[in-house]
Amino acid sequence: MLQSSDHAVLLSEAERLLPNSIAILLEQNPNRVSQLTITGAGLTLDASKQLIDEQSLQALAASAAGVDLAGAYERLITGSEVNITEERAALHTLLRGTAQDTLPGLAGEVTATLSRMRAVTEAIHSGDHVSASGDRFTNVINIGIGGSDLGPRMVCRALEEVSPQLNTHFISNVDPHDLDVVTRGLNPQTTLLVICSKTFTTEETLTNAQRARSWLIAGGVSEASIGQHVLAVTTNLTAAAEFGIGEAACFPMWDWVGGRYSVWSAIGLVIALGFGWRTFTDFLNGAKALDEHTRTADCEQNIPMIMALLELWNTRYLNTETHLVLPYSQRLEHLADFLQQLTMESNGKRVTLGGKTINEVTAPVLWGSAGTIGQHSYYQLLHQGNRRFSADIVLPLTNGDVDLDAHRKLASNALAQSRAFLIGRSAAESQALAAEKGLPSELAPHFEMPGNHPHSTLVMNSVNPETLGALIATYEHKTYFLSVLMGLNAFDQWGVELGKVIGKQIRATLENGDGLDELDSSTAALAAAWRNANR
Ligand code: F6P
Repeated sequence: MLQSSDHAVLLSEAERLLPNSIAILLEQNPNRVSQLTITGAGLTLDASKQLIDEQSLQALAASAAGVDLAGAYERLITGSEVNITEERAALHTLLRGTAQDTLPGLAGEVTATLSRMRAVTEAIHSGDHVSASGDRFTNVINIGIGGSDLGPRMVCRALEEVSPQLNTHFISNVDPHDLDVVTRGLNPQTTLLVICSKTFTTEETLTNAQRARSWLIAGGVSEASIGQHVLAVTTNLTAAAEFGIGEAACFPMWDWVGGRYSVWSAIGLVIALGFGWRTFTDFLNGAKALDEHTRTADCEQNIPMIMALLELWNTRYLNTETHLVLPYSQRLEHLADFLQQLTMESNGKRVTLGGKTINEVTAPVLWGSAGTIGQHSYYQLLHQGNRRFSADIVLPLTNGDVDLDAHRKLASNALAQSRAFLIGRSAAESQALAAEKGLPSELAPHFEMPGNHPHSTLVMNSVNPETLGALIATYEHKTYFLSVLMGLNAFDQWGVELGKVIGKQIRATLENGDGLDELDSSTAALAAAWRNANR
């Protein structure tokens, strides 16, 4: 957690910089872009449009040294018990081969699981493992929620360009409509299910798994041969066995992997099934390269460290209210959904590791969507609303398709928005615009935009398995570093657990009216309305 002397320095740095214009800082220093651009593992971070300068950057780097970010990273990757409330390590880095030598026993388990994942993937692709009807599988449905869904879903969408071996689908919500829509038009005889649940106790996933099983049976797959159509990923082999999935069809997870950090484990099996083993290993290697960058680069050249320091700087010191992730790539359309869980489930906390209440904000409120769609919706608020925000514009330079003209239009929009966030439109320009339109000068403020919105641009050559791995690992480490700077545990989620406990109680109320009197009057009225509507 930040030392109070570093905190005081950052406060005064923010006070000094807040009246400044980022556009003027750019104008004044011809070297600013190169000084504030850093690269690693196929990614380039341009932070030159952040409201920082050399002096504030040095102060941020000093606070990173004060909390020993580099030491914290070593502790993470070598298996220290960083998740203190659940008494666990958080070893997602080991899943992609980082620091294997320090943990040979666990590394052996990872390797063995990867071998099994590879074997089943190749058997399904070669036709050695076929469906109950003897047909090759054509579709795979991943059933999971949270970390057992968002990562693989985002990655599979991003890789659709790679020629798919199986079509990938995802069912997550306990709303039966989700499953019904996904399965509509699919042939149960050639569809494989992968049930992903670290705990194998999650209501949504177990409900969907049961319904999907019934869908297979209704589609002609016999009870006896259903095992050929179902794989599972879990730490809870007993619960999976009770569900009817034998050990041979189960791929292990470990309690030392957090759900939202688990896309590199067998939770990513759907990626391999969809796009091939080579693609999955390239994805792991991209993340491993970023791990290496994080371990070796100095703080000021270290992409996740700088991103964490900027997140701290913007949210705590420049008082931005919200953070946007704006990928200018339709392939990354699910990136913000994935990052919401990673960022807000990890750092949406109100106590320090030592149990002390934190009065300042912690995780930023993160949202966003693929450009240019948001431009025709909420960007109005970004440009002219009163809310302060920061943003990451994610910009793949090439698009892998033939339509260079459309790709140029997409990139022009990314750069145009970045520039508009920077320069806005001044009072004088707005007066000129009003005059040009023949409008009275008192209407000119309607055209004004303050600009000066701090943001970074995260550039990669293209969206491919390696850059995708590096991109996710960047955000993982940024999230962990922010937790270290703020003194949080990034790896538990007790807030989510509360809703699950109350949800169980209310389910009984909706079923048979039990406990209606124990509810608050508002919830009781809603429960009664539901019961009335579903008699
Ligand atoms: O949302 C809470 C949570 O526990 C997440 O952390 C996790 O990713 C998700 O539920 C799913 O859990 P499981 O994989 O155990 O079904």
